Amino acid sequence: MKEDDVLLKVEKFVRKKISGYDSGHDWWHIMRVRKLAEYINDKEQLEEPFLVDLAALLHDSADSKFTGDDPKNGYRMVEEFLQAVGMADLSTRITDAMRNISFSSKKRYGDITDPLLLIVQDADRLDAIGAIGVARAFNYGGFRNNLIYSPEGEQNKFSTINHFYEKLLLLKSMMNTSTGKEMAKERHEFLEIFLKQFFKEWNPDFIRIARKTPFSLDQEKGAY
Ligand code: ADP
Ligand code: NI
Repeated sequence: MKEDDVLLKVEKFVRKKISGYDSGHDWWHIMRVRKLAEYINDKEQLEEPFLVDLAALLHDSADSKFTGDDPKNGYRMVEEFLQAVGMADLSTRITDAMRNISFSSKKRYGDITDPLLLIVQDADRLDAIGAIGVARAFNYGGFRNNLIYSPEGEQNKFSTINHFYEKLLLLKSMMNTSTGKEMAKERHEFLEIFLKQFFKEWNPDFIRIARKTPFSLDQEKGAY
């Protein structure tokens, strides 16, 4: 099968797989990650463009957060699909990269220095920060009906603002490629600007309570 035909089949497979996900993990997330990955690879010349497209397209298609399924099943389906489109030899590399991309997964699979992984992981992380990152975080929080923020520390653990401190603000220093690192700077700064404004707008009486929690960026910076 020609590469373009394989990509068309992959697109169709992915659209179906992600159809129940939140709209922060929709087709446009996949397209943005694909473009970002292509851009990074173009700059760094690390990998064959076709492989980058393939991995970027497939990167979220076995996410147990949404399928509620045993993740092994998701990866098995990707493997079977790749076999069916004549890409069986790439299957392990792609599923290893998919497994390793996740921020939350502690376990590592195969070659963790594979450029395919490094590129797509950077692209996925870039889409989690900046203005789009903010939009996606609150979209996911809304999808789960999580709190936006709570000035009460215990409650705040489950808020979307807390997700910024637990994950989003850490991503800048976790970037792999020089292009990714460079691009992360502006997006990271935007997260900081957003949080500063957020806490500025929060009822001042609540801010006093919030300052006792470890979650306030302003508290760290002593801005308020
Ligand atoms: P990973 O697979 O790297 O662990 P996820 O798929 O869990 O990452 O997260 C991808 C995106 O989903 C995040 O960047 C964020 O936008 C959103 N997200 C995930 N968990 C949360 C959460 N608890 N609160 C807000 N957004 C979240
Ligand atoms: Ni993703």
